[in-house]
Amino acid sequence: MPERPLNGRYTSIAVALHWLVAIGIIFNLWKGLGFDALEAAHPDQIGAAVGLHKSIGITVIGLVILRVLWKIGHPGPAPLPALKPWERKLSTGVHHLLYLLMLVVPLAGWLHDSAWKAGAAHPLVLFRVIPWFRFPFFSGLSDAGKDYWHDLFGGVHTITAYVLIGALVLHVAGALKHQFLDGQAQFRRMWFGR
Ligand code: HEM
Ligand code: HEM
Repeated sequence: MPERPLNGRYTSIAVALHWLVAIGIIFNLWKGLGFDALEAAHPDQIGAAVGLHKSIGITVIGLVILRVLWKIGHPGPAPLPALKPWERKLSTGVHHLLYLLMLVVPLAGWLHDSAWKAGAAHPLVLFRVIPWFRFPFFSGLSDAGKDYWHDLFGGVHTITAYVLIGALVLHVAGALKHQFLDGQAQFRRMWFGR
């Protein structure tokens, strides 16, 4: 079994991946929730905005896979010793939920996009540079069949994004509580340093 670090910190790679993924997800939540307003106010900009959203979301999937692989060989530091048993259980449970949602939310978005009946006329090109693939299962379906899966995965994408927001609120509230109310050096654990 790989050893836990004794300095009470995550490794620099884990810290870099945590914050890159966090920025990508927060940006996509913020922009995603604004799509309807953008489409109403500036219909000419919606295509580029959704294209950037897809590019960032697929990048997040890659970064989360790297993060999980890294975690297998490099577990985080032991939990803060002052945590009460229920706090430890809750924070670990929320971390597991976040890992699950960090993959399910963008994967549902990607499946939603893969079943888009107009997809053939709008190829997926990450950051307008890297041609990317869609899941091929839907390509042989009728338009009605594609609509069915497009709506279903769109619904999953939206609902899981809201659950992610809930988990994130708990996560940030926990980090702020331990740092400022309990006086624990919490943020330092997820930042660079020796
Ligand atoms: C979408 C955004 C975020 C996601 C998905 C996320 C996810 C996670 C996950 C899964 C862990 C557990 C790491 C592990 O043990 O493998 C973690 C740890 C941590 N996160 Fe976040 N996080 C996000 C945003 C934030 C924000 C905004 C803060 C600051 C308030 C924060 C502060 C921390 C801290 C301090 C830890 C270390 C917890 C410990 O002491 O073990 N995170 N995060
Ligand atoms: C970081 C990961 C992601 C997050 C947090 C996220 C979040 C969101 C949110 C909150 C919405 C608005 C939902 C609504 O108002 O109903 C949305 C919409 C959308 N997302 Fe994502 N998303 C992510 C990744 C992806 C990926 C990877 C794709 C496709 C490759 C994608 C495709 C879409 C599309 C096409 C919409 C517009 C939905 C519609 O009205 O048809 N998303 N996303």
